[in-house]
Amino acid sequence: MARQSEKGTEKGTPGRESESGLPLAPVYGPEALAGWDPAERLGEPGEYPYTRGVYPSMYTGRPWTMRQYAGFGTAAESNARYRQLIASGTTGLSVAFDLPTQMGHDSDAPLAHGEVGKVGVAIDSIDDMRVLFDAIPLGKVSTSMTINAPAAVLLLLYRLVAEEQGVPAAELTGTIQNDVLKEYIARGTYIFPPKPSLRLVADTFRYCRAELPRWNTISISGYHMAEAGASPAQEIAFTLADGIEYVRTALAAGMAVDEFAPRLSFFFVARTTLLEEVAKFRAARRIWARVMKEEFGAKDPKSLMLRFHTQTAGVQLTAQQPEVNLVRVAVQGLAAVLGGTQSLHINSFDEAIALPTEKSARLALRTQQVLAYETDVTATVDPFAGSYAVEKMTDDMETAVRELMVRIEDLGGAEAAIEHGFQKSEIERNAYRITRETEAGERVVVGVNRFRLDQEEPYEPLRVDPAIEAQQVARLERLRAERDQQAVDRALASLREAAAGDANVLHPMKDALAARATVGEVCGALREVWGTHVPTDAY
Ligand code: 3HC
Repeated sequence: MARQSEKGTEKGTPGRESESGLPLAPVYGPEALAGWDPAERLGEPGEYPYTRGVYPSMYTGRPWTMRQYAGFGTAAESNARYRQLIASGTTGLSVAFDLPTQMGHDSDAPLAHGEVGKVGVAIDSIDDMRVLFDAIPLGKVSTSMTINAPAAVLLLLYRLVAEEQGVPAAELTGTIQNDVLKEYIARGTYIFPPKPSLRLVADTFRYCRAELPRWNTISISGYHMAEAGASPAQEIAFTLADGIEYVRTALAAGMAVDEFAPRLSFFFVARTTLLEEVAKFRAARRIWARVMKEEFGAKDPKSLMLRFHTQTAGVQLTAQQPEVNLVRVAVQGLAAVLGGTQSLHINSFDEAIALPTEKSARLALRTQQVLAYETDVTATVDPFAGSYAVEKMTDDMETAVRELMVRIEDLGGAEAAIEHGFQKSEIERNAYRITRETEAGERVVVGVNRFRLDQEEPYEPLRVDPAIEAQQVARLERLRAERDQQAVDRALASLREAAAGDANVLHPMKDALAARATVGEVCGALREVWGTHVPTDAY
């Protein structure tokens, strides 16, 4: 738990505790906001400290981006799914890669066996990337790619395919996740040790500043920490602390804060505890704006804006009575929208069981469309502003998050705290609490520990064809036979040289990928120079 606090309110009425362990009063009144100054705490929408949202008009000007995370099997299958989503009205793409791609291994690597195309699409080379975006105009769509250790590699493949489509790099819009720090804390798809990983992040910031100025260079993510059990306060504190570490890394690499901070973006979860989630998003924006202004002296308003994507909480989906998840995701999505998200993924109701089917993926998008076009939540900006309850919860959240951020600073910052195992052990403690409460029945999970069915209805999930692995291996064999091997070897040698020195690795990396080097070969060259990370669990 982020911090222990006494149950009950200032008035002594017994109340609930929030997910962050903060007091939740049965009733809030004016005394909750005694001495509260709206000019200082809120400002106007689109103005410092951005509590009310990053844009003055928010959804009255433009709805959030509906960005459904998707991808499985081969590039051709995923391309078909993207086209279906676009035809159904999605407004942004979000690519899920399979585990071998996320770990920088080709589909024919021994470690890839059994995992090819399973949790996302298999991408081995420019040949696959070209198929993935076939007939999708990259100058018009914004694309998020959930890729971390090999983020630079996939970004460059995207750029190369865009150039083939005649779209200049400077026009490309999208986001790479590129957040390695949280991989050490919660997600696990790291390759290199923290230091070279951070150097690669800084190289990517610099490269994008020069070549892809509209690209969001990182999506600093609390989502996966939340999935691993972090409380809302922990999710925000650990994510913003990671953000601070990236800012310091880029400053140490010689960039000025306003050169890269406008393109930092964030990624959070939305749980069913709607009020606390709204408070969380509002507090996060305010804290980040203050940190960037006061600690780093950022001047560009864009550097101060915490822009974020939200995904509904996968961990709150149940395999029992899966249709109930349709209700959960609607509440969670609403929390994200009331909290001012820029981009949203609503989970499909069957995701606790398997990858979403075409129909369930469409239903998830339809849920976003109902929120955007049938409700009135887009008609007025930050409708909770001034609410006794939500403003008090926002303030309490800010205090709790700040306290945790101070603890990380005391350990020497996010990277040092990771090496101490601090974030991981705090998250594990909270995960244990949630499990214990659920098992004891103190935390109600509809359909799981209450309101159960004697007999669950059978459900036919989508299954990935195991033949995909053989197809990918055959494609790789063909690629290696056809390409100019000497050109590939030369480009990989230049990449190793840059990695060993100070030159930006993205330039030789692009040459290697253009010569049809594979994702595994490029990551392999970096592994040779930088080594791989071996986790040390300090606690
Ligand atoms: N008034 C004026 N302008 C507005 C506006 C308004 N009301 N609303 C939007 N705009 C403008 C913006 O200024 C922007 O223009 P600019 O780029 O020139 O500044 C443009 O419209 C697009 O708006 P946003 O930037 O707000 O929205 P985007 O969708 O383009 O970007 C983001 C949102 C959060 C900044 C971006 O980083 C993003 O899209 N992230 C998505 C991340 C994602 O999808 N991750 C998936 C993770 S899944 C995962 O991890 C898997 C697993 O393990 C769970």
